[in-house]
Amino acid sequence: METEVLSVKDLLEWYLLAGVDETCGCFPMENIDSKSNNFKPVSNNTVLRPATTNLAQNVNEACKNADDMCAKIATLEELRKALNDFEGCALKQTAAHTVFGDGNPQAKIMIIGEAPGADEDRIGVPFVGKSGQLLDKMMGAINLSRQDYYICNILPWRPPGNRTPLDSEIAVCLPFLKRQIDLVDPDYILILGGAAANSLLNMAETISKMRGRWFEYQKTNGKTAKVLASFHPAYLLRTPGQKARSWSDLLRLKKELDDKISAENN
Ligand code: URA
Repeated sequence: METEVLSVKDLLEWYLLAGVDETCGCFPMENIDSKSNNFKPVSNNTVLRPATTNLAQNVNEACKNADDMCAKIATLEELRKALNDFEGCALKQTAAHTVFGDGNPQAKIMIIGEAPGADEDRIGVPFVGKSGQLLDKMMGAINLSRQDYYICNILPWRPPGNRTPLDSEIAVCLPFLKRQIDLVDPDYILILGGAAANSLLNMAETISKMRGRWFEYQKTNGKTAKVLASFHPAYLLRTPGQKARSWSDLLRLKKELDDKISAENN
């Protein structure tokens, strides 16, 4: 029997189709200089990552720690620092950056996604990759730019290979998100994708059933924010046929904002 020999290009394409978008060698590398592609092995005295088993077993304790810590935080900068220092979520150990919120912290609109992808993890800013670029265009179509909203994710760390986040990972990170919402204090939240919508609203529904509908989110200051659920842009990139539904969701958001402005002016 003749064996087919694959070219390196074919093999790489096959890996990409199979969802492998990163490579690693036998030795950890450091000092990756994107301009010169200069990789060098890390020195032998590099601190090795601990196993994550203990962290996984201590989810309850980590949630409690996160809750206690967040209750005392008064500013977004303090929250960013607390999240950077927090060791209660194993995702942090495989992520390159803690991806905190971006945009305008004074804005009355907040957009919440699921978790950083590869580009966000590399750069440390939410929604800067392909999904983010589509989202920017979609928001631009209703005349909103990053100066008009604050944007963040349920999880500040990328799950390895973009896998679905575990419930325990979401539970540990939720106190930080809730505090971020308190501190930004938006009137409107656009929540993207089923995982994010279910986590924030404590529901177990498909995004197809939730999208285009308004929900209420109770902030700790006693006020509520109106939450509109819609498809995640990553889903729209895979399923462009759903863009029309997303567009009608965004028009709902725009109408709500326009109505509020005209009510304030009258
Ligand atoms: N997808 C998300 O949910 N968030 C990001 O920041 C990027 C992609």
